[in-house]
Amino acid sequence: MTADITTDVLVIGTGPAGSATAALLASYGVEVLVVNRYRWLAKTPRAHITNQRTMEVLRDLGPEVEAEAMLHAAPQHLMGNNVFCVSLAGEELRRMQSWGTSPESKARHLRASPCEMNDLPQTFMEPILFKTACSRGAQSRMSTEYLSHVQDADGVTTTCRDRLTGKDFTVRSTYLVGADGGNSLVAEHAGLPFEGRMGVGGSMNILFRADLSRYVAHRPSVLNWVMQPGADVGGIGMGLVRMVRPWNEWLIVWGYDITQPAPVVDAAMATQVARQLVGVPDLEIDLISANTWTVNNCYATHMQAGRVFIMGDAAHRHPPSNGLGSNTSIRDGFNLAWKLAAVVKGQATPKLLDSYSAERAPVAKQIVTRANQSIAEFGPIFEALGMDGGVDHQRIERSMAARCDATEAGEKQREALRRAIDFKVYEFDCHGVEMNQRYNSGAVVGDGTTAPVGENMELYYHPTTCPGARLPHAWVYDRAGGKHSTLDLCGKGRFTILTGIGGGAWVKAAEAVSRALGLPIRAVTIGPRADYEDHVGDWHKVRDIRDSGCILVRPDHHVAWRSQSVSADPEGDLSRVLRQILGH
Ligand code: FDA
Repeated sequence: MTADITTDVLVIGTGPAGSATAALLASYGVEVLVVNRYRWLAKTPRAHITNQRTMEVLRDLGPEVEAEAMLHAAPQHLMGNNVFCVSLAGEELRRMQSWGTSPESKARHLRASPCEMNDLPQTFMEPILFKTACSRGAQSRMSTEYLSHVQDADGVTTTCRDRLTGKDFTVRSTYLVGADGGNSLVAEHAGLPFEGRMGVGGSMNILFRADLSRYVAHRPSVLNWVMQPGADVGGIGMGLVRMVRPWNEWLIVWGYDITQPAPVVDAAMATQVARQLVGVPDLEIDLISANTWTVNNCYATHMQAGRVFIMGDAAHRHPPSNGLGSNTSIRDGFNLAWKLAAVVKGQATPKLLDSYSAERAPVAKQIVTRANQSIAEFGPIFEALGMDGGVDHQRIERSMAARCDATEAGEKQREALRRAIDFKVYEFDCHGVEMNQRYNSGAVVGDGTTAPVGENMELYYHPTTCPGARLPHAWVYDRAGGKHSTLDLCGKGRFTILTGIGGGAWVKAAEAVSRALGLPIRAVTIGPRADYEDHVGDWHKVRDIRDSGCILVRPDHHVAWRSQSVSADPEGDLSRVLRQILGH
């Protein structure tokens, strides 16, 4: 049977994962078709915390893409006073500086990346990525539902339904990407293995407009955690009043008991919950929407079946804690897109694609575990407030009041609360989880060294050029004084080598190997009077090689290989390493 449509890559889903992948593939010049069963992009602002690494992917797509995201995002300085309170209008229990806003963390963020963390609701992020894909030539079809696929030695035939006409049609592609979310049919049909459980908690989202400036503008925060009797029910841990737009659009996340049927959240219930958490009995809200969702604790242990790949929530299903979902989904796309492009263009063999699951499945496990652990780590806060024993309001009020007593017990309680909230840094300022991802696969060639393990790899980012790690960011300067991140010198679908004074042989080797393999390789020399200068010495601090050494960087900014100094046979070494990575 002849297929109705043919393309190199078919992507199911226009969420952050699918749209990012389509945008990257289109930017790399690959024929891609992306479909979505619905007529709309994200209708609710689910994901919002956008970390530096994700912004680096957007920056790689182009300065205009990064700039558009920043235009719509709430900036970092409005994100950070994570408030714990009895209600927004009521007593504040504590606030913690989060998301890189404490002076110490701010410094670490500034060192780590050219990009700023920000709060960009999914309702803005998805259109930016999708538009980028379309403007670069990706084919897209809305109201188009994936139904099934079969693969053979040469490709994948996928059956979709056009929901406007009700007619089914087939798409023949070399590769199929399932970016179809937490109930992924592609993952199911591909028979991919999962560990963990779905539906471990119940939550509801209430999206509304109300000007709450007077309760929040003096302590700007994305997340306001409201501790009230009964708020510990369900997945999210407590009542959450989340800023969507400062300070007049909000999303309340409120748990429900997963052993009971999901509640029907009507306007009356939504208003009552909003009044209770904001602490204003006659608050009027303009309800936009309400829905329920379940908390999952489940990840794929393998993300590829032949010509079929899964990514995003299709592969890792977890609560919003740590804000890792969309961020990880976009990075899955950044990992896979250049590999698919290299294979489709004949620069690499399909063996390269095996590295996708080898590199991203451990990340899926890590982030699902982290996000679920973060929920459990609310427990000590409830304990410190005496809220761990159900919904006896009077007992809880007595216990909360006791923390103000000038007694030994009161001091102990205050200390317990301080410690419990401080420990939530693992959810609200977990820079290492966001930035330390290091790969070990056939697409990385070791140099005989072991990647250094720094202090607390979850909390702190530790730069290294050890193969597998993300290339460290350092500002370097062109002759005209222009300032560039080392990451700006790499990426955009190309391999790059970075070298210094005395590394001329690497530059020549890159030219020769590029010609021989038909693979674009950019060569950059950093040093006095070279392509870029390390005026402030930041590159010297993180490069881990000598001036004449070489760092080979993959299109996704990860270090593929490095040599401490110029070798006896730079062309032979570079050729051997690249052939190994590309699967020749
Ligand atoms: P996503 O579910 O977004 O998209 C799936 C796509 O596939 C959709 O376009 C859908 O229509 C399509 N599709 C599904 N089945 C199909 C079929 N059969 N045929 C065709 N199309 C089909 N993350 C984060 O990074 N930071 C954060 O701060 C938060 N915060 C947050 C808060 C709340 C309340 C929630 C519920 C979630 C978050 N997240 C988050 C998580 C984030 O929303 C989630 O991880 C991403 O949306 C996942 O993106 P995907 O593209 O993988 O799936």
